[in-house]
Amino acid sequence: MMAVTWDVLRYDTVDSTNNVCKALAAQGLDSTAVIARAQTAGKGRLGRSFQSPEGGLYLSALWQDCPAGQLLTVTPLAAVAVCRAVESLCDTDCGIKWCNDVVLHGKKLCGILTESSLLPDGSAAWLVVGIGVNVGQASFPPDIADIATSLALQELDVSPDALADAILAQLTALRTVLTDPAEWLAEYRRRCVNLGRPVRVLRGNTVRQATALAIDEQFGLTVQYENGETETVRSGEVSVRGLYGYIE
Ligand code: BTN
Repeated sequence: MMAVTWDVLRYDTVDSTNNVCKALAAQGLDSTAVIARAQTAGKGRLGRSFQSPEGGLYLSALWQDCPAGQLLTVTPLAAVAVCRAVESLCDTDCGIKWCNDVVLHGKKLCGILTESSLLPDGSAAWLVVGIGVNVGQASFPPDIADIATSLALQELDVSPDALADAILAQLTALRTVLTDPAEWLAEYRRRCVNLGRPVRVLRGNTVRQATALAIDEQFGLTVQYENGETETVRSGEVSVRGLYGYIE
């Protein structure tokens, strides 16, 4: 694969950096990153919104041509990329809550939302990986205060620009390992904070209690329910929480 360089576009405020990238994708742009200081309509997984005040880093990376078999692996590998980027800039250890949340001291530091345009053969015409990292926020609104943290709240002094550069460097590395992500998959498994722990599996309005057993080759989470039945859940359909809260 050719060396990747990113064209970087920086904004103060946009509705969603993913939306900006999608508009650029429609114009045929490739290897382009959009970074904003705040978003007015940040998007989260499963149709949720993502609160995006100033202080956070909101970065979306657009590229073309992702083969069908590699699409499912991009988002969890992006979580590994963010962990590596954060750890390259400060002395800390990040974990991953299945499927794509980067966590620090048991709280959510970063969320990732990938959007793509699929061709008939299942490959992606383009793909946008959207990453929101809580960098400098000094507090969070009551509805997410229990589950969210920021680098600043953990007394880690990181510049959003340096973090953006480090993330883009890791996304470059990610693109080169997509065809053979075995090493990154092993790292994902090591970092996953759910394995061996009780989890609640949330699907629509139903909640089932289970134990998280393993991550399969496609980054599905294999769980065992209380009746002994096992299932491998996929990122597009369920959320996973701890027994009492976000992780624990
Ligand atoms: C989640 O945790 O549910 C995913 C959150 C993804 C948020 C990022 S911020 C940059 C990009 N732009 C968006 O609108 N969403 C992603």
